[in-house]
Amino acid sequence: MRQVPILAGIIGSPVSHSLSPLIHTIWAHRAKIDGYYIPVEVAPDYDDFTRAIEGLRKIGFAGVNVTIPHKEHALACADEVSEAARVAGAANMLTFSGNNIYADNSDMAGFESAVRDIAGVPAGARALVLGAGGASRGVVLALQKLGVKAITITNRTEEKAETVAAAFSLKTAPWADRSDAIAEADIIVNTTSLGMEGQPPLALDISGLKPAAIIADIVYAPLATPLLAAAKAKGNQTVDGLSMLMHQAAPGFVAWFGGKAKVDAKLRAELVAELERRKT
Ligand code: ATR
Repeated sequence: MRQVPILAGIIGSPVSHSLSPLIHTIWAHRAKIDGYYIPVEVAPDYDDFTRAIEGLRKIGFAGVNVTIPHKEHALACADEVSEAARVAGAANMLTFSGNNIYADNSDMAGFESAVRDIAGVPAGARALVLGAGGASRGVVLALQKLGVKAITITNRTEEKAETVAAAFSLKTAPWADRSDAIAEADIIVNTTSLGMEGQPPLALDISGLKPAAIIADIVYAPLATPLLAAAKAKGNQTVDGLSMLMHQAAPGFVAWFGGKAKVDAKLRAELVAELERRKT
């Protein structure tokens, strides 16, 4: 008897721009796995989210990725929560088995792997994190796992920077002084939405950047944000949002489709080509 295809997907709003369906489709194709990964648009409301989850479980989904604005909802609806999701206060992965919903967070491991892909960070490195929203927490944890000792966080709304700083024992810097703060840092990470298509650029003077400093940006549309382009032009190493996106997708593919999820240059090239196609 022919087995039914494996089903998984991504829930968010908006979700139509997501590259995750393409990433999973490429991996399924490579592994010759009969499966579908579907984008599911669900309104920001928690009740709508839980109804969608119930429906997807009933029709046999193995699991889903969860993106903005549902990452906290994903954590709240789970029966079991991983350490990573608990500490980040958000989940980007839900795995269904029987009546159990398991919430996990692969964002921080994705960021960590993306940094390790280029060189990792030197021992005793100092970091500057721009932004104090949901994404910043995972990045801070990943930096700590990478061995970064001193992290400074800066955010337009200072109270939010103070909250994250208190939770993770970080220093804060005033948002107005962000360009000065980069002179001290060995790795700088933009976790704000600035620089994303349709958003203002991140105003940051990087003339004081250390020659060996790494600049990372969680934004992947555009792939070369003005910040990354400026850092590259100076000869600094960069980590873009696409590297993080590919790495964060891998644990979901392994958990739901049961195949190998290799992050390599070929996958990246296919995703870059798709981003190019979307521009036309
Ligand atoms: P996410 O969960 O993806 O991090 P978020 O919680 O909405 O999204 O956070 C967005 C981040 O981008 C915040 O740090 C936000 O700063 P505020 O806390 O001051 O809102 C930052 N951000 C968004 N627009 C900004 C702008 N125009 N100038 C400065 N920072 C901005």
